Amino acid sequence: MADEACSLCQDTGWVLEEIEGRSVAKRCPCYIKKKNPILFEQANSPKRYQKCAFSNFEEHHPSHRHALKISKQFVANYPVQDVGLLFQGPCGVGKTHLSVAIINELIWKKSVPCYFFDFRELIRNIQNSYSSDSPMTESQVLAPVFEKRVMVLDELGARRTTPWVEETIFYIINHRYNNKKVTIFTSNYIDSGEEDEDQREFYFKKSGFDKKGEDTLVDRIGTRLRSRIYEMCKIVNIEGDDYRKKVKQAGYRF
Ligand SMILES: Nc1ncnc2c1ncn2[C@@H]1O[C@H](COP(=O)(O)OP(=O)(O)O)[C@@H](O)[C@H]1O
Ligand SMILES: [Mg+2]
Ligand SMILES: [Zn+2]
Repeated sequence: MADEACSLCQDTGWVLEEIEGRSVAKRCPCYIKKKNPILFEQANSPKRYQKCAFSNFEEHHPSHRHALKISKQFVANYPVQDVGLLFQGPCGVGKTHLSVAIINELIWKKSVPCYFFDFRELIRNIQNSYSSDSPMTESQVLAPVFEKRVMVLDELGARRTTPWVEETIFYIINHRYNNKKVTIFTSNYIDSGEEDEDQREFYFKKSGFDKKGEDTLVDRIGTRLRSRIYEMCKIVNIEGDDYRKKVKQAGYRF
């Protein structure tokens, strides 16, 4: 059976993107997939996000415009600029969307081998590789993590780390950094940069979080790893409503 027509471009390969009030024709993510199927497949992006692009990232909050601009600059400047990104913000604001859009653009425009990994999955895969009946060895699990020039590590801190996990992730990230491989992180945990409780409340409020007393990124991944990530990444805060709840619901007509 033939595949269904692309819902974004109806198989024309083109979509319209608003740039400074003008509509500009841009390649659809489905075209990227057709043009570079091997890199696209190897990138391991979740199916649900494969059509994420800059062209279908909407601006519902001033921080969206900023995040989109930084993401576009990142692609334009790659590989000269080798600083990674850390998208921080609450759930559903488009952190994963932009990360996958960056992967898609890099594959299409610059044929860069990229890799997407969910933080929890990475840890699970490494742990599983130690069991005797595992189909994959640890080095097989880690091969793309070491080799791919750009990696997205999604949902940093989504799983609480143990000293062993912290050490392993530190080793991976450090290895990538020393070899000039760029990493893009996303995290639902903010980092106040302050260990002080009052400051923490202030930063939570400022960032659109309502989670006083809850964990910050440091609580989840430890100071050593956090410092390393701060050294190697530009921090991009994204705020706003959960797109799935607010924006999409608003579009439904009953
Ligand atoms: N600004 C946006 N424009 C268009 N789609 C968005 C935007 N923000 C989020 N989405 C969509 O909403 C869903 C949730 O976004 P996601 O990137 O998973 O959020 P996060 O990673 O920040 O939790 C995805 O399907 C994504 O494509
Ligand atoms: Mg996400
Ligand atoms: Zn398409």
